Amino acid sequence: MAELDRRHLLAAPFALAVAGCGSTANNSPAPIPQPVPTEGLHALASQKGVAFGFAMGTGQFNDPRVREIAKLECGLIVCENEHKWPATEPAEGRFDFRAGDAIVAFAEQNRMAMRGHTLFWASPRWLPRWVTNYDLGSAPASKAASLITTHVQTVARHYGDRIPTWDAVNEAIDNDTGQLRDTVLSKPLGVQCVDIAFRAAREALPKAKLVYNDFMSWDAGRTAAAHRDGVLRLLEGMKARNVPVDALGIQGHIGGGGQPGSGGFGALDESAWRRFLDEARGMGLTFQITELDVQDRGLPAEVTTRDREVAAHTKAFLDMMLSYKEVDQVLTWGLVDHQSWVQSFFPRADGLPVRPLPYDANFQPKPMREAIAAAFRAAPAR
Ligand code: XIL
Repeated sequence: MAELDRRHLLAAPFALAVAGCGSTANNSPAPIPQPVPTEGLHALASQKGVAFGFAMGTGQFNDPRVREIAKLECGLIVCENEHKWPATEPAEGRFDFRAGDAIVAFAEQNRMAMRGHTLFWASPRWLPRWVTNYDLGSAPASKAASLITTHVQTVARHYGDRIPTWDAVNEAIDNDTGQLRDTVLSKPLGVQCVDIAFRAAREALPKAKLVYNDFMSWDAGRTAAAHRDGVLRLLEGMKARNVPVDALGIQGHIGGGGQPGSGGFGALDESAWRRFLDEARGMGLTFQITELDVQDRGLPAEVTTRDREVAAHTKAFLDMMLSYKEVDQVLTWGLVDHQSWVQSFFPRADGLPVRPLPYDANFQPKPMREAIAAAFRAAPAR
């Protein structure tokens, strides 16, 4: 980490809790043994009026060990990929809910709530290929609007009240520029593509909580600021146009600012982050932490240190976030390290497996799990 960044990190109150913990060298290669949980994370969270859960994909659903941990820890499930557009409508007008239905049934059998992710991922990388290649013809705006409306309403109505919270729109804002992302659908519609998705969802689900979900973060620097600002301008515009957005989903893929070899997480700007949250709260939005995990590629190889830093960062982040009583859900993006998307999307330069989640590859709880529990214990009730 550059000296300036380190000073910045140490100066930020949020970062102090992180820096105070876990940077001592410890050469033991073994993970830190953790107590066997006696009280699940959802049980702890719900004492404070918060629900805890995780993202379950088909792989996790098929893994009996993950299902057992889920029953112990979770009161809430979100599908990792099974409710996204490419999965639910793989060709125009051909809907397939089998994978998502299996996970929803598991949640219901175990008295867990579902959250839906996502009716419209407004990013060119994640639309189905048939949408990206679509010939919108001579009236492109109305064709684009009808593709969005049909998709959103068919998925929303398939589940009805069984999924009371939906990420209506995911990641519409470009994280480098703060502008609306360019897609085949945003070209003719502009920001209306977001409005149309929310309005279609509201029409299908009058009682659902509709969320705008994105990965803006508390990292310092120009691009993080542009992303936060772009999201605020989007939300502000939606409110001004009476678009039915109820909550802001804060993905919480933390640690992304760490540079390889920095030994840490990069510079943070807690006060800018709080200004961001305060402004969103001022618009009447509630908050959900929707995809928590911690990227450790900037941390040393040694597992004990890594796990401790990841846990300290998790605790500092959750303490700060749970101080906002608007937060009513916390979800991690997976449960066990080896099944995390971070393994392939944000690998370590040294090739070692990343350790971004509360349970390790042996299905044992890690310090991160205890950090989440401690944050729920310390959180004010809402
Ligand atoms: C990821 C999944 O975990 C991967 O399996 C998939 O290949 C890509 O999407 N932000 C989101 C999630 O909103 O939907 C993403 O999930 C992770 C980043």
